[in-house]
Amino acid sequence: MTVAPTLPGAVTVRVPAKVNLDLRVGPRRPDGFHALATVYQAVSLHDEVSVARWDDWQVVAAGAYADRIPTDGDNLAVRAARLVADRWSVDERLSIRIDKDIPVAGGMAGGSADAAAALVACDQLWGLGLDRDELAELAATLGSDVPFILAGGNAMGSGRGEQLAPVLARGTFHWVFAISDTGLSTPAVYAECDRLRERDGVDVPEPQVSPELMAALRSGDPVALGAALHNDLESAAFSLRPQLRELRDAGVEFGALGGIVSGSGPTVAFLTESHEASLDLSVSLAASDLCRDLRRAKGPVHGAHVVTSPRGD
Ligand code: C5P
Repeated sequence: MTVAPTLPGAVTVRVPAKVNLDLRVGPRRPDGFHALATVYQAVSLHDEVSVARWDDWQVVAAGAYADRIPTDGDNLAVRAARLVADRWSVDERLSIRIDKDIPVAGGMAGGSADAAAALVACDQLWGLGLDRDELAELAATLGSDVPFILAGGNAMGSGRGEQLAPVLARGTFHWVFAISDTGLSTPAVYAECDRLRERDGVDVPEPQVSPELMAALRSGDPVALGAALHNDLESAAFSLRPQLRELRDAGVEFGALGGIVSGSGPTVAFLTESHEASLDLSVSLAASDLCRDLRRAKGPVHGAHVVTSPRGD
């Protein structure tokens, strides 16, 4: 693993990944996005993003997936930071260090997480004092799930996923994430979903999250939640990567309460009864040779938040 020092005066933000507990994909809109109804949960796989003043834009990547992210202006953290700089006329450049522990192109909002973290970090570094609404508005311009990653917890998403509403939820849930070596492109998975629907002549209704899922979250019952997990993008992800179905089925056979492709995949998320059950499932999945990279996590957790700041607040 590359180890890169954090620069003096840096602001560091910790930011979670997400899983969609329910993801209903509606018709394709004229702007190319799809109308969504989804329930997000933030989970304890984290990136850390540190920003410090520097004489040019620079990205330093570290952590498990460091070699999979761009270090130029395409990096979402850089785009987020430049957006803030432009909007508030801050004539400064930053060195941005990203400790990457969220899978890249994995359906867990890894890129969105870095964008959300950079927004919060720049707000703090430059003392802008942005409120939640201002941050959420900027976040939505960077990606559909960036506003949720800022907020964390559990939330319902509509529009293209960027419009959030609170959900009643109790309890902590235990997850095992089976991470693939190669990512899936989100636009490609949505396009495959459209293709399959067109091929099968499916009439696509306006999307709505299921009452069973909402009831399961309200009760905090992992068995009910496991049974209610649903993802409309799953068949598209299976179509593009058939071995994911085998992986999902194996996890359920090994005792998961539910298994689902996370977002646009290819990460497969398994819900378990307890921390111990997660350990057991990880051992079984590792022995099955269907997946090499397994991570345990719990949810819900907090959204992007400052963990180190020279300002001391
Ligand atoms: O908003 P975000 O950058 O995460 O979206 C990535 C891509 O995923 C979009 O360009 C689009 O192809 C697809 N997408 C979609 N409908 C959504 C969200 C994303 O079609 N609601």
